[in-house]
Amino acid sequence: MKIIVTDTPSQAFEQAADMIAAEIRASSTPVLGLATGRTMESIYRILVRQHEAGTLDFSSTTSFNLDEYAGLPATDPNSYHRYMHERLFAHVNMPARGIHVPDGVAPDLDAECAGYENAIRTANGIGLQLLGIGETGHIGFNEPPSAFDSRTRVVKLDAITRRQNSSMFDNDPEQVPSHALTMGVGTILEARRLLLVAVGAGKADIIDKALNGPVSEAISATAVRLHDNATIILDKASSAVWA
Ligand code: F6R
Repeated sequence: MKIIVTDTPSQAFEQAADMIAAEIRASSTPVLGLATGRTMESIYRILVRQHEAGTLDFSSTTSFNLDEYAGLPATDPNSYHRYMHERLFAHVNMPARGIHVPDGVAPDLDAECAGYENAIRTANGIGLQLLGIGETGHIGFNEPPSAFDSRTRVVKLDAITRRQNSSMFDNDPEQVPSHALTMGVGTILEARRLLLVAVGAGKADIIDKALNGPVSEAISATAVRLHDNATIILDKASSAVWA
């Protein structure tokens, strides 16, 4: 596991974007695993800027997002479909057929999850999986406890996560959907490379637990330590307890 600590959040975002861009350039058929949330917004902004400058071509890229809220259609302003469209997909030349985000309103959510696993396999697996970390230590929406061999499935969101994500829902945790579809920890661990990014003092405690605590299904992010090609990019503030 490689840990990079930058002075500022912007440097962390730049380094993460550079790794993603390098992955896209290195393969004739790049397959990215993508995440949403506040941390990723700046990273996508940098990738869009590189594309607009003509230095990054997404035309052969396939992507799989980690998760989606159950019950939110792609058109819902708080869906991760919309998040990705507004922040990345609408601004780059990734072919629509290569974009995958779990369907939160599929008639059979379990079948949707199984189909998602198949689609990842058919694409020959994920080359680089981008990850954030939640207050509960979740990666994707793998709330504690999540088995390290768990697969894409429907999960119940932790009360802490519903509060964490409530800023998009009138600051009302009750309005945050109670369930989500998420790639499993096992699905994530099968990516050829992992890139976890965290910035800000608010992440310092959970980063400390994820990196220094026992590897345990009670904190999904500790699974990243089991991967043989994982990079963690932190800024000074999020690494404060750890460093
Ligand atoms: C979202 C996801 C989550 C977030 C995590 C951190 O697709 O997979 O694990 O990465 O909740 O979110 P932020 O960046 O908003 O702190």
